[in-house]
Amino acid sequence: MNVRDAIARRRTPQRFEPDGLLLSREAIEALILEACQAPSEDDLQPWRFLVVRDRARRETLYECAFRDPRVREAAAVIVVCGDSRAWENARSLLGGRIRDGLMTEDEARAMEAAWRDLYEGRPWERALLALRGPCFVAMNLILLATERGIATAPIFRFDEAALRGNFHISDSLIPVMLVCLGLPSTRHPPRPDPPRLTASDVIRHEDMETLEF
Ligand SMILES: Cc1cc2nc3c(=O)[nH]c(=O)nc-3n(C[C@H](O)[C@H](O)[C@H](O)COP(=O)(O)O)c2cc1C
Repeated sequence: MNVRDAIARRRTPQRFEPDGLLLSREAIEALILEACQAPSEDDLQPWRFLVVRDRARRETLYECAFRDPRVREAAAVIVVCGDSRAWENARSLLGGRIRDGLMTEDEARAMEAAWRDLYEGRPWERALLALRGPCFVAMNLILLATERGIATAPIFRFDEAALRGNFHISDSLIPVMLVCLGLPSTRHPPRPDPPRLTASDVIRHEDMETLEF
């Protein structure tokens, strides 16, 4: 399956076959690590993941996700988080780059200072850092799962405070979305493909009279 096929084939199932798929810890880790080849600003890799497979914990997560049945039925749910403080790990990230000969000490110090200028005391920039990269990884994850015949349901409806409290998610992390992985239920056939907006709805070219939407 090529990328085009995966994009065309992916659909969010209405329901999963309860426990219809077994996904090992290792298989999920492999999927996540492959997805982490995604690009990120200054290669800060500001994504962190919480993998929930255990039935009892999925039940807790189900409550946090306003009882979306797919959370309960999925083989696993990945809580995709963004790290708004990823730039504070600068020493370890940059140390690796220096060791690999990718940058000098001076360049690393300049980069560290640039990150501090950009992110320190700037909550909006930090929020963007924690949101952009994880969305790229989530899409990679979804397409890689599709390639492996696994269906995915991204979910943004969850009670953030409950999720943070029950799963001990620290303040510096932003839970961006849940990605449920499973086998689509045959008892709930897929909805017809939703129509997408057209070119004129979403695209303007620079030579057009108006660039407004
Ligand atoms: C970030 C994100 C969050 C989503 N959250 C939910 C959700 O909370 N509940 C839900 O039923 N669907 C959710 N969806 C699925 C969308 O409703 C679905 O992608 C859209 O209707 C298009 O259908 P398709 O995915 O089958 O192409 C989410 C999708 C994305 C990308």
